[in-house]
Amino acid sequence: MTTWTIKKLLDWMSQYFTDNKIDSPRLSAEILLSDLLAMKRMELYINFDREVTPDELTQLRELVKRAINHEPICYLTGHAQFYSMEFEVDKNTLIPRPETEMLVEKAIDHLRKRSGNDHILDLCTGSGCIAAAIGKNYPDCEIVATDISQDALEIAQKNIEKYELTDRINLLCGDLYEPIISEFDGKKFDIITTNPPYITDSEYESLDKNVRDYEPKHALIAGVDGLDIYKRIIEDVDKFLSSDGILLMEIGYRQGDAIRELLEKSGCFEEIKIDKDFSNNDRVVSAFRIAQEKSEGELFEELND
Ligand SMILES: C[S@@+](CC[C@H](N)C(=O)[O-])C[C@H]1O[C@@H](n2cnc3c(N)ncnc32)[C@H](O)[C@@H]1O
Repeated sequence: MTTWTIKKLLDWMSQYFTDNKIDSPRLSAEILLSDLLAMKRMELYINFDREVTPDELTQLRELVKRAINHEPICYLTGHAQFYSMEFEVDKNTLIPRPETEMLVEKAIDHLRKRSGNDHILDLCTGSGCIAAAIGKNYPDCEIVATDISQDALEIAQKNIEKYELTDRINLLCGDLYEPIISEFDGKKFDIITTNPPYITDSEYESLDKNVRDYEPKHALIAGVDGLDIYKRIIEDVDKFLSSDGILLMEIGYRQGDAIRELLEKSGCFEEIKIDKDFSNNDRVVSAFRIAQEKSEGELFEELND
């Protein structure tokens, strides 16, 4: 009978994944095997000769089968890395993407330039990765995070519990701002962050199989031009973003001009800026709400902070 050591399995899986056109075959093999054996990836290398038990082999065989059907490795392990943190994910949550870390970075930079306790609204929170990364790295803030999917929010809840953020992050289920109206009528936020669905109907058809067949469609798709959700966010933003507050949104790489136009047309914003990601594509929009005379309600809220 063949004896399977860690080294032998890694070599075999890497080759099998390469033959089946799986992205980053060696890395995928290492992630799957280290997760199954409850080891760090590094530990695989110092335990190259360790034999894998028949029980572990049976479990691995199932995972490899799913991987070659292009199921994302993060769904197989149940977690994803984001902003040097580990987030639980499942088929109800989008897998956090490295590009989205830019949005978190911008929010934290902005917070560090201010003083006092800031109130943040994260729309379309999914796994809660944006809210949790901001909350973990900037303690002086309170965050409300909303999503239309109760299943996604159950995962977000586990993530904020893991990072002990439940007293500063409030998760609410509903359509964009709708849960804010019912829970805190009239509340305004210093920062609104969002990574909403922004794929066009036609782009959806040409997405990689591992995205199209596995990640939740309602987390990706946003109408013919991919702008449906942005239009709704911008249309009502003045009711929820405080005077001189900032809106930070991730956008699709071809949406920069259209989003700028929507923001300009709203008449609510100044200093509209679009930052590029590491592939030199438009990725994060920041826009400051034009300062308004503060209402009595807002002045009262500030006094209470
Ligand atoms: C692109 S995913 C982003 C998830 C997470 N913020 C991230 O960056 O990984 C978009 C999220 O928007 C949610 N969503 C879609 N339509 C929504 C709506 N009308 N109101 C609130 N959330 C919505 C989806 O359930 C999904 O979790």
